[in-house]
Amino acid sequence: MTEEERPRDPRQPTGRLRVAVPAPRPDDPSAVVPGVALVTIDRPEALNALDFDLLDELATTLEALDRDETLGCVVLAGGPRAFAAGADIRELAAATPVSLELERRFEAWDRIAAVGVPLVAAVRGYALGGGCELAMICDCIVAGDDARFGQPEIKLGIIPGAGGTQRLPRAVGKAKAAELIFTGRQIDAAEAERIGLVTAVVPAEEVLPRALELAGRIAAGPRLAVRAAKAAIARAFELPLAAGLDFERRAFYLLFASEDRREGMAAFLEKRPANFRGR
Ligand code: HXC
Repeated sequence: MTEEERPRDPRQPTGRLRVAVPAPRPDDPSAVVPGVALVTIDRPEALNALDFDLLDELATTLEALDRDETLGCVVLAGGPRAFAAGADIRELAAATPVSLELERRFEAWDRIAAVGVPLVAAVRGYALGGGCELAMICDCIVAGDDARFGQPEIKLGIIPGAGGTQRLPRAVGKAKAAELIFTGRQIDAAEAERIGLVTAVVPAEEVLPRALELAGRIAAGPRLAVRAAKAAIARAFELPLAAGLDFERRAFYLLFASEDRREGMAAFLEKRPANFRGR
């Protein structure tokens, strides 16, 4: 491996987020997964509870990775016990409506949701409250058989505040989402798969390899088209059908200006694999 191919860390270490660009291969850390970055939330003493500074760091990191032309996908992982056990309750306990309004710390969630590069969540252990909401912001969720999802905010006298009341019903339907949000009940990975919350459930120790493998396949695709697909899928949850269809059609037309569209179609007609360059 040359110096250029070695994983680099684009940021100063924060202590709570680890960033590898490109991601090392789990089976051979001296090799990399081309086009894929790995961001790991690393605050195990608090089960990766997301305090506001950590969320800001995460948003800033993902925005930087979103601008990195060498990348086609980002895997977001936690630890073995928790992807993230929610917002930091210690910090939230001191909040007031005025502090929440004036400090504007929830804007980090909007910044994360606005990232254009596909995000794959690699979930082991708890993904609760803000942790479940963070996983739902990601495009795909690879869950370990030890994963537990839930929106337990009701038990704290509040409701989900980072999109849970909107994204969970869109993901699993109203009746299931209402039960989960009203009671705060946790679900295991098998139930999460049954109700359509996750992309796949795999043995716990295979979560990261499988998430990186999926991310690698996404990153190997025509990146402008993949980003356009992400943007169009997001519209499916935001726009009336006619407006979403119009967005899709315009994005479809625009992709005909890309080199990768020419390459993809030429490769098919010449019966050879396509060599996409993200242009
Ligand atoms: C702060 C947390 C935390 C959290 C865990 N910890 N979750 N600290 N905020 N959300 C800390 C504990 O205080 C403890 O620290 C350490 O992590 C280990 O947790 P334990 O509770 O001892 O572990 P365990 O008994 O295994 O229970 C695991 C758990 C439980 C079931 C996940 O920790 C739990 O219920 N956590 C809270 C889950 C939750 O309610 N999440 C929603 C938060 S509100 P010490 O120092 O005591 O060892 C939310 C709103 C989002 O997310 C709104 C948008 C921002």
